[in-house]
Amino acid sequence: MASEKNLAVGIDIGGTGIKGGIVDLGRGELVSDRIKVSTPAGAQPDDILLAVRTVLDTLGVADSDYPLGVAFPAIVKNGRTRSAANVSDRWIDFPAEEFFEKGLGRDIHFANDADVAGVAELRFGAAKDAVGLTILTTLGTGIGSAMIYDSTLIPNSELGHLQRAKHGKDAEAYAAYSAMERDSLDWEEWAARLQWYYRHVEFLFSPDLFIVGGGVSKHADKFLHLLDLKTPIVPAVHRNNAGIIGAAALSLGAAPQLADTVTGA
Ligand code: BGC
Repeated sequence: MASEKNLAVGIDIGGTGIKGGIVDLGRGELVSDRIKVSTPAGAQPDDILLAVRTVLDTLGVADSDYPLGVAFPAIVKNGRTRSAANVSDRWIDFPAEEFFEKGLGRDIHFANDADVAGVAELRFGAAKDAVGLTILTTLGTGIGSAMIYDSTLIPNSELGHLQRAKHGKDAEAYAAYSAMERDSLDWEEWAARLQWYYRHVEFLFSPDLFIVGGGVSKHADKFLHLLDLKTPIVPAVHRNNAGIIGAAALSLGAAPQLADTVTGA
């Protein structure tokens, strides 16, 4: 059984689902069920707050003293959300951290969803001991990115919004997992889009390692071998739980430098 003082709660807010769990920060593993509710239509602040409360209630931790980390799919700078790609525009320049703290009646640690997934993989997964530049991408409703250079996260990289010149659209509109579902692509067809995306990122940044996260990373065997890149590309060890684990890890007092880095403070 995990020691109580190693436990923290992570909430990962996404464009499609809001997930949460209790995490043993010693081992970097979930010690509770993974609770998921749908992201309310329109993704307005009050509705998301309510959904987060439901997740905390279901986990039985609404009134607990466990540290709480919350991850959100937007640029996060000094506790404010600065963008809104797959959520309501009300989140643009919104004091989100304060809003959740007031609404939940407790302190939280707040950061970008892909950045915290990067922190989870750095502390407990595929980016542990990686040297040079690691780029983690989450393939979901959008494409999130975490850039890690020699174990230091460079927050808010937003590589899902690289422009695809051919269509004048964001890369995520073309190559996210949601694009595969929307356009009813098979694995080969989707992999062709990913090939363009990762080649482009590879050309721009010459990384040493790509890590692929998001829900679809559990099917990595269906598409990663179809990609032809110079850079090694591996699935996130924590698959779609990396966001929950990373959000919880943010609140780890023993590594405050990670928390400071990831929130862009
Ligand atoms: C957002 C990012 C987020 C990513 C994955 C993008 O649309 O701009 O902040 O990390 O989706 O959720």
